This record gives sequence, C-alpha cells and structure tokens, in this order.
Amino acid sequence: MFQKGLKNIVAVQTHIASVDGDSGTLQYRGVPVAQAIHSRSFEELAFFMWEGRFLARDELEQFTGQFNYHRELPEHIQQLIRLLPAELPLMDGLRTTISAYSTDIFNRLPGREQAIALTAAMPAIIASLYRQKHGLRPIPSNTDLGHTANFLWLLTGILPKQVHIDALGTYLKLTMEHGMNASTFAARVTISTESDLTAAVTSALGTMKGPLHGGAPSGVIDLLEEIAVPDHIRSVVLNKLQQGAKIMGFGHRIYRTADPRSVLLREKCLELQAHDPWLDLAVQAEEEITELLAEHKPGRQLHTNVEFYAAAVMRAIQLPPELFTPVFSAARSVGWCAHALEQLEDNVIFRPQSEYIGS
Ligand SMILES: CC(C)(COP(=O)(O)OP(=O)(O)OC[C@H]1O[C@@H](n2cnc3c(N)ncnc32)[C@H](O)[C@@H]1OP(=O)(O)O)[C@@H](O)C(=O)NCCC(=O)NCCS
Repeated sequence: MFQKGLKNIVAVQTHIASVDGDSGTLQYRGVPVAQAIHSRSFEELAFFMWEGRFLARDELEQFTGQFNYHRELPEHIQQLIRLLPAELPLMDGLRTTISAYSTDIFNRLPGREQAIALTAAMPAIIASLYRQKHGLRPIPSNTDLGHTANFLWLLTGILPKQVHIDALGTYLKLTMEHGMNASTFAARVTISTESDLTAAVTSALGTMKGPLHGGAPSGVIDLLEEIAVPDHIRSVVLNKLQQGAKIMGFGHRIYRTADPRSVLLREKCLELQAHDPWLDLAVQAEEEITELLAEHKPGRQLHTNVEFYAAAVMRAIQLPPELFTPVFSAARSVGWCAHALEQLEDNVIFRPQSEYIGS
C-alpha cells in the first residue's frame, strides 16, 4: 500500500512520547506534558526522556555535572567553527559542526553519555557560530548557570533575567520531543543502519532545516511583520490563501485541535509581556486567521502549531529569527537521542519499498 508522506502509517513503536491529535494531548513517557515540565530543569527532563525515570536527589549533582563538563567544546570543534565562513546560515554551520563532533566517549556504542555530550554541546556551538557571524568572540560557559540560563549567557554575555530563563526553558522543554516527526524519523533511519549517534543527529539537523518542519518560526515573524497592524490581518492572509500559500504557524500533521504546546506557550507569552503591541497582534492574528482558515479550508481543522507562539516567545526574549531553528534543534536533540537509543534496543534496519510507476 502506498501512502504519500507516510501519512497515518505507524512506522515505529515507542515508549518516549504519545501525541494524540484528536484530543490535543501530548505526554512524555506517560506524563502529561504540562505536568512533566513543571518545576523541572531542562537537564532533569532530558534524563527522564532518556532513562524513563526521574533523577533521584543524590544523582542530580553528578548528572548536571556531566552536562556542564560537555558544554566545553573540544579544541578541534572550536577550530572548525573559526574556519566556517560568516555568511554560512547557522543551521548549515550547526549541521557541519555536529557532524565533526567526537571525543573519546564516541569510540563506544551509542549511549547516554554521548547523548549528554551532543545535547550539552549544541548551545555552545550555536552561540559560537552566532557570535562569530556578528564579529563577536565566543564566551566561555558560566558554571553557576544551568543549561537554559547558560544558553542565553553564551549568546549575549549578559546574565539573563529570570523571566527570560523561564520563557526559554518552557519552550525548550515543550519542544524536546514530539513523536515521529520528520527529523526524529531521519535520526531513527540513520541509526537503524548501526551508524553512530553523531550521524543520527546530523541527519536530523539536515531534516530540521526545512521550512515545513523547523524553519517555520521565522516564517511566523515574517508573516506578522507583513501584517504589521490588526487591520491588515484579513487582507494579507486572504492574499496568501488565494496564491495557494500556507500560513506559517498554522496546521499540523497530527493535531486536529489546538496544539497543547502552543496553548502552554501562549500562557507563558501573556505572562511575559502584558500589553506588548506585537504580542497583542499575535493573539488577535491567531483568532482571525483560525476563522479565515475555517472559512477557506473547511473541514481541515487548522489551528496554531507550536511554531506560532514559539516565534512570540523568541521575539519577547529578544532572540533574532536566525536563531529560531537552531534553538529548536538544541531542544529536539533530546528527543533525537532518546529515539536513536530506543531504536537500537530492538533494531531492524528501515527499508521500505517503492512502487515503480515509470514507463
Ligand atoms: C505542518 C504542515 C506541513 C502539515 O501538513 P499536512 O498534514 O501534510 O497537511 P496538508 O498539507 O495535507 O494540508 C491539508 C489541507 O490543509 C491546507 N493547509 C494545511 N496547513 C495550512 C496552512 N498553514 N495554511 C493554509 N492551508 C493549510 C492544505 O493546503 C491542504 O488543503 P487542500 O486539502 O485544499 O489541499 C502544514 O500544515 C503546513 O505547511 N503548515 C505551515 C508550516 C508550519 O507552520 N510548519 C510547522 C509545523 S510544526
């Protein structure tokens, strides 16, 4: 049987996350996402995703210590970053740098420490690439800060405000895993050949770059900037629909109701910046565009996806659009590694069939 885009085909059985598109629910290892992320750091939640249990109190220090250790980039990675041209898009730089990432722990079979190393290195790589692109020197990690706060520190060199750490932390935790999305599937396909974890994450990064997956939040900013004032929402969106264009930040392959991550991020945005005109525009645009899509695409159930409010959070914490997809990747690294390791527990190489329809 052929199904374009493998739509509705179950390609994998997993214990990591369940995404119910009809009820709009997301669970991480059986725990509703709102509950799983509440009062937990990025590192604690990553451990849960990789190991299927929460850290015991006496394990926390050692685990976060491993994260801190792997924030320091190996010398050959720092050299490689310095060689990359400033005009290279950040996602290309990130994919190239991760593909070269190795240390002695990568001489073994894929395991949790490699997952920590790749996930912990990603913010440092992104920040170094970003700063180099803008003529700034890389900043060493701040050992007093956790993963999320240190990410902001590495980018800006300024001690971040707690509200900004919370907002970015919410985004990173909400997007670290989401079932069989395209990039996670790419990671599983790669590791299923018994390739290595670095190769699996590199494949995932190449897949994440596309605008139909990880590239959407900057498209949302473009859309809202084009709209500019609430009075233009209708005309801008109708014009796009008439040209057959997709409205960025709306629609989802799985969710047929509001994306639960978008709902939680919307709450965080409203907490962050009451009465911010740009945020008010986003809230009003969500309402009007949902109505327009219902009118022009009846029965398709098109609502905001996580990218819509992700764009708003990033904008509120003053991260520029060029960082959106790299930051999303830094979060999703947790899910990619979790799935790659799960694939190896009971591996069969992915090798679907193609149907020849040529002459
Ligand atoms: C995410 C996405 C790729 C899911 O695609 P999908 O499940 O394959 O859904 P389809 O592309 O088959 O869409 C079904 C119908 O809804 C329409 N549709 C879906 N998303 C739409 C959008 N954002 N704007 C306008 N129409 C949309 C399609 O044109 C199609 O209409 P048709 O039946 O008249 O051909 C798609 O909704 C999209 O491109 N959204 C915009 C990009 C985006 O926000 N990506 C981030 C995802 S987290």
